[in-house]
Amino acid sequence: MSSVALSKNKLPKDFLWGFATASFQIEGSLDADGRGKSIWDDFSRQPGKTLDGGNGDVATDSYNRWKEDIDLLVSYGVKSYRFSIAWSRIIPLGGRNDPVNESGIQFYSTIIDTLLAKGITPFVTIYHWDLPQALDDRYGGWLNKEEIVPDFVNYAKVCFERFGDRVKYWLTFNEPWCISILGYGRGVFAPGHSSDRNRSPVGDSATEPWIVGHSVILAHAYASKLYREQFKQAQGGQIGITLNGDWMMPYDDAPENIEAAQHALDVAIGWFADPIYLGHYPEYLGVMLGDRLPVFTPEELAVVKGSSEFYGMNTYTTNLCKAGGDDEFQGKVQYTFTRPDGTQLGTQAHCAWLQDYGPGFRDLLNYLWKRYGKAIYVTENGFAVKDETSKPIEEALSDHDRVHYFQGTTSALLAAVAEDGVDIRSYFAWSLLDNFEWADGYTTRFGVTYVDYDNQKRYPKDSARFICQWFKDNVEKDEPPAPRRKGPLAALAARLVNAVKA
Ligand code: BGC
Repeated sequence: MSSVALSKNKLPKDFLWGFATASFQIEGSLDADGRGKSIWDDFSRQPGKTLDGGNGDVATDSYNRWKEDIDLLVSYGVKSYRFSIAWSRIIPLGGRNDPVNESGIQFYSTIIDTLLAKGITPFVTIYHWDLPQALDDRYGGWLNKEEIVPDFVNYAKVCFERFGDRVKYWLTFNEPWCISILGYGRGVFAPGHSSDRNRSPVGDSATEPWIVGHSVILAHAYASKLYREQFKQAQGGQIGITLNGDWMMPYDDAPENIEAAQHALDVAIGWFADPIYLGHYPEYLGVMLGDRLPVFTPEELAVVKGSSEFYGMNTYTTNLCKAGGDDEFQGKVQYTFTRPDGTQLGTQAHCAWLQDYGPGFRDLLNYLWKRYGKAIYVTENGFAVKDETSKPIEEALSDHDRVHYFQGTTSALLAAVAEDGVDIRSYFAWSLLDNFEWADGYTTRFGVTYVDYDNQKRYPKDSARFICQWFKDNVEKDEPPAPRRKGPLAALAARLVNAVKA
């Protein structure tokens, strides 16, 4: 194969790759330097809310160990690092008339400067689920569109003002489906609302998730409008939202199962992506919910449509879809990993919802590219090895199943770019570190770096080595500077170079 043909099979040299984290999952130090409470602080401390009783008080102690974490990123040779800002460190009480906390600004500012000094591009999520508790107490948080939208926009504005001179990649929200369904439908994430009174004293799972999703779309859209009107020109960055969504494959060829897979995509992804990229909710969502689906005013819709400059994609697995059931959060579709012939789709992860199936990653990339036509930034993708936490450290570091998972998704990524022509600009593996895995506490490990929670020591797993090597091998290198020689030898060298090129 000639060098030209080979370079076509590589990712472009400005492709961003690295690892992702989120503030509440890694920082700890919840009372430090004026931080206000977030909805996860007390929620995670309540008995029964996390599998192992773990909470966010210490997490991976990254509020204190951020330098060590950046050194780790440097040792991995990443191009970029995706992390999130904790709203309640920036504005402890959250609201548009509440004071800004300079220590919080300083904390993230120093991280940004340090990353840049090491040649690592910061990729920043403004909201990764840690709503200031004060806003939930004051007016019901995401349930109150009139209040939360301007409060979020104000918080985002502070971020653009204080960090936007250095941050060129902004994500307004991480995974609105999870915020809405897991926080206000199933009640497993903070603030834990649910119609199930054994689980929660408050909540209406039939209406609240759809109201919350609507508020999040609007908060995203108005923050993005503000950025593009007041900051983008001077700062030269990009802004978008990142959506979770797994590939949905029909269980078999039955027409109702083919239709079911589309319904599942409509609710998992289309609920947010269709209004943002196409300007309307998916038809099926309206059919399923009737007047429980909130309606955008024409003015709102004009702001929502086109509000994300790229497609931010978080994805983990593939579900086989069968029509039926009454679970609206899955579009009244049943998910399984068991094929009609009884075999499993892939290797089972520690969490029930995740199996390893690389080809689904390529199919999803193609689906999103065709449907929405936007450049895709893969902002999360990862695997939790079964029972990793009960293994001795040395054994856990040989994380073969995670390596296999990343082999599948990275080769699917390359095929999607090189063979299918999908415009993909980044890949962030979840996660840099084992960390606080929300309702799973510390029982489920997603890190490419093992964290020994007894002493907070970090140990690279085989998967970290795999990913770093893979991107070193598969991203085009910067052209080496042309040799600068004088005299007849230089002429000979130039002739040789030209001959090789020809
Ligand atoms: C979230 C992360 C989470 C990961 C694994 C994503 O949904 O953004 O915060 O840890 O999945 O469950």
